[in-house]
Amino acid sequence: MPVPLVIDTDPGIDDALAILLALASPEVDLRLVTTVHGNVELARTTENALRVLHLAGRSDVPVAAGARESLVHPQPERAGHVHGTAGLGGVELAPSPAAVDPRPAVVALAELLMTSPEPVTVAAVGPLTNVALLLRVFPDAAARIGRLVVMGGAAWRGGNVTAAAEFNIWADPEAAQAVFGAGLPTVMVGLDVTLPTVLGEEGIARFAAAGPIGNRAAAILQQYLDHARTAYGTTGVVVHDALAVTEAILPGTLGTVRRDVVVDTSLGPERGRTVAGERESAAPTAVEIAEKVDSAATVEFLVSRLASLDG
Ligand code: RIB
Ligand code: CA
Repeated sequence: MPVPLVIDTDPGIDDALAILLALASPEVDLRLVTTVHGNVELARTTENALRVLHLAGRSDVPVAAGARESLVHPQPERAGHVHGTAGLGGVELAPSPAAVDPRPAVVALAELLMTSPEPVTVAAVGPLTNVALLLRVFPDAAARIGRLVVMGGAAWRGGNVTAAAEFNIWADPEAAQAVFGAGLPTVMVGLDVTLPTVLGEEGIARFAAAGPIGNRAAAILQQYLDHARTAYGTTGVVVHDALAVTEAILPGTLGTVRRDVVVDTSLGPERGRTVAGERESAAPTAVEIAEKVDSAATVEFLVSRLASLDG
């Protein structure tokens, strides 16, 4: 029986790959996509989510728009220089025939959580503003989340948007603090495991050759590839969100350690750092932090699943 899945997302190049991966995976049933500000503005992340679903022939999956801004302090800047100003690496996907769900994201998410007979997995791969709002507006619904898989933070790898902070946490540290402190069954998939997991040009070529969906997915990645080459000197891309969704699809893919996590919400250079406890923690608010990954296996999983979309 496929597990009901919600992806909360700010598409975003790697978000797009993560959505496609979920659609290619029979282990999960993507029941809802909720969008959030982040890489680009909310209107754009929402349009992108609709178009990615349509690309894969799944415009039946509802898309509900959420927070257009962080909880307390506005996000200092978007990530258009990484994802392209429109958020999909400069690639124009065909518009979806589907309209945005009229419900705000937290209402759509709460309704799904309250009515689903099976526990719902939520993969949060953008700033955590929507998840924090769910906790505050619909706490009973939030308590029904079966698993929360967060792409964000780092236990020891520092940051990617500043020296201290990973982008999703940096975009809304107050939201992240609320989520990590809520005691939900949470897995934190951070830079510690995403940065070593590089999707190379050979893998991209495999799904690019599989058919139109893979070809568009590869085209979307091109800007990421160019950015990685100049920024990191690598000939591959780190598809952070796809690794988090892999853990959502196959629980236990990543090796985790249960630790307390605190988010730095100061306004200085440390803002957005996730500080993980040194020792394992049995505290109810502790978080499973992903610390071990078989990068080759997870890249192969991603490539083969993306290629299957054109099968
Ligand atoms: O740090 C990586 C995260 O920031 C990913 O979710 C990517 O989409 C960006 O939002
Ligand atoms: Ca993202």
